[in-house]
Amino acid sequence: MTIAKSVDKLITVDGPSGVGKGTICLLLSHQLGWPVLDSGALYRLTACAAMNDGISEHDHEALEKIAIALDVRFESGADGLRYFLRNEDVSEKIREEATGNMASKVAAVEGVRAALLEKQRSLANEAGLIADGRDMGTVVFPNAPLKIYLTASAEERAERRFKQLKDKGIDVNIRDLVADLTARDERDSNRKVAPLKPAEDAVVIDTTELSVAEVEAKVLQLAQQCFS
Ligand code: C5P
Repeated sequence: MTIAKSVDKLITVDGPSGVGKGTICLLLSHQLGWPVLDSGALYRLTACAAMNDGISEHDHEALEKIAIALDVRFESGADGLRYFLRNEDVSEKIREEATGNMASKVAAVEGVRAALLEKQRSLANEAGLIADGRDMGTVVFPNAPLKIYLTASAEERAERRFKQLKDKGIDVNIRDLVADLTARDERDSNRKVAPLKPAEDAVVIDTTELSVAEVEAKVLQLAQQCFS
């Protein structure tokens, strides 16, 4: 087993789907000048490759092979990072609900997680890193100096996602969103490998009643205390 690298400038941000980890990580990234590791994107890219190849969620061996050989590339574009899978731009496709659902199934496969572990650890270096995911503080970077766990009620998270999708002109039913988020939370929290849970030394922030600015202020204060 590889021992996790000890890196000084590292913040892990974990929590359930739709809690706003991506937004907070981007804000932190702008403030600190450290890049973001979007680990969920790696699971989404694996899911996308599996869907392209017609691989079933039950074929764990084939899924592991896909993760080991994952041919991905990232490029910064005007509207953020673009994701390429086997040279095809899949930046929009990986954000679709169907890909997210497949990602949470693929993410429960032990061999897939093992294959993606080293890819994630290799991104930590002296330039700093903000790692966004479900097991960043518990498994991938257990030595991180600052671990944050964001949480919020399923209803509040569905409401936020609903607004986001509505702004993009996508019509969805809020009850479907709550059901979808709850199913994903259950899969992520109850799987055998790297289940979603706060690290023992994580700072847990319940964002249900907080604005983005309030969460950002709390997180920045923690970062200042930890790194200055
Ligand atoms: O965060 P995002 O919604 O993009 O992640 C997609 C899926 O990948 C999640 O539902 C979760 O099942 C899985 N995931 C994971 N571990 C991570 C990041 C994401 O299991 N570190």
